[in-house]
Amino acid sequence: MIWEYYNDKTLFITGGTGFVGTALLYRLLTQSSPKHVYVLSRGGYSKAKAKWSEMLPPHIAKVLYESKCMTIMDGELGDTATMDLSDEELQMLKKTVHIIIHAAASIELKNSLRELSYTIIAPTLCLTQYAMKFANLERFVFVSTAYVNAHLWQTSKSTDVAVDEKIYPLDDETEGEAYAGALEIWKEVQKTGTSTEYNSHNFPWPYAYAKHLAERLVLEKAAEKNNLDKVLVIRPSVVGPADKFPMPGFTTAYSTPSTACAAAYALHPGRKIVLSTRCENPDKDATIDEVPVDVVADRLLVHVALGSSGCVHAVSGERGRLHLEDWWSAFKNERRLPWNVQPVWTSEDWHSKSLHYMARNFKIIGTSFAFADGRTDAMAEQLDSDVRDGLHLYADRSKPYHHSLIHRRHHIHNAARQIARKSRLPVCSVGLFCRKGKHPARLQLSEKAA
Ligand SMILES: NC(=O)c1ccc[n+]([C@@H]2O[C@H](COP(=O)([O-])OP(=O)(O)OC[C@H]3O[C@@H](n4cnc5c(N)ncnc54)[C@H](OP(=O)(O)O)[C@@H]3O)[C@@H](O)[C@H]2O)c1
Repeated sequence: MIWEYYNDKTLFITGGTGFVGTALLYRLLTQSSPKHVYVLSRGGYSKAKAKWSEMLPPHIAKVLYESKCMTIMDGELGDTATMDLSDEELQMLKKTVHIIIHAAASIELKNSLRELSYTIIAPTLCLTQYAMKFANLERFVFVSTAYVNAHLWQTSKSTDVAVDEKIYPLDDETEGEAYAGALEIWKEVQKTGTSTEYNSHNFPWPYAYAKHLAERLVLEKAAEKNNLDKVLVIRPSVVGPADKFPMPGFTTAYSTPSTACAAAYALHPGRKIVLSTRCENPDKDATIDEVPVDVVADRLLVHVALGSSGCVHAVSGERGRLHLEDWWSAFKNERRLPWNVQPVWTSEDWHSKSLHYMARNFKIIGTSFAFADGRTDAMAEQLDSDVRDGLHLYADRSKPYHHSLIHRRHHIHNAARQIARKSRLPVCSVGLFCRKGKHPARLQLSEKAA
């Protein structure tokens, strides 16, 4: 019922060589028999093969790069719909594709809104406009982020901010649908590099606002063509290593924010790290919603197959998010320096320069969001138990969180080397600060052999 939906379908996927896209493609190709899958990749087949071979052990990478039903198209998203593809390729996509999954994006949280206009907003709008002309389009998926609504932290009285699977308008006077007027705002951003609504809300990063605006643009464009029922906005929280597929612990070097935080923690020479919060007892009350990448892939694929539209959270939610103290104590486990680092909490704004750089980058440390995921619960209830058991819709929290960091030791070590380079610390000293693990792909091979 779920996987059969994809049989004989033609898909076009952006971001298929990224963290989320790789898990998604693996799941799709191993569970169903699509007619064809076209993947847009900068650098084409050779680059995609090299990326998958770097991330995955050979027997898993081959499932992707040897697939007979997949074509890698050498192209790039930008501010036109052409994606650097030929006219023939564009016409072929327009005629044949049933499902578009747009997962490509820059995940550079710190980039300016003007930069993100080129890497997130314009490409998403162009692709949506183009998709709305596809003769056989059944589903258009935009991969956004649950933190599009992170600005609610600053306005909510609660220290555990409930976020629903819906668009929260940024202007109280928005009439009609919450996405209405997005095209006007986009004109303002193009002209000035910013917008009044952006400046009047306290977003943690321009990235969160760029995705907020992109979501509304997708919906507004789809509504113009009466295609709202075809659009699904998937909102992952903080994406973390896989529980199950393509392999347990599957992770990439730069797409798991907690990895960078663990590296920053390991390298910190002092005993205190200054963080910001509104919580009374932040160690216990602040939370991090980290979701395994395979939960993101399965939620997306199952909601598409069952025809869900609108916004859906791909999160761990209240049942699976982490308390800050658990996250922090897992970091302690990875640090080699013999003294621990304690958080020092301040009520200063999350942009404050007095915070540790880890908190200035990853501003949601010290917050707590209760992301609703009732749409997945409702969908899972409709499924027969044997179908449901074959899906991975919820994070597995049966093991302590520090297990998840053991699989990431190699990446934590590499992230620490990068931080050391930027901070002009001797890179060779990184081994003194944090453990050096095996690359997750090789770790999997040795676990398999054992
Ligand atoms: N990672 C997270 O914690 C997280 C959390 C919430 C939401 N998300 C969202 O999930 C989606 C996937 O993220 P990810 O973690 O998989 O990121 P990722 O590992 O950095 O992968 C990004 C992908 O996008 C492609 N890409 C970027 N810019 C492109 C362009 N201009 N043209 C064509 N392809 C382009 C990259 O292709 P190349 O191979 O050519 O570089 C890569 O395949 C993104 O939309 C992101 O915003 C991620």
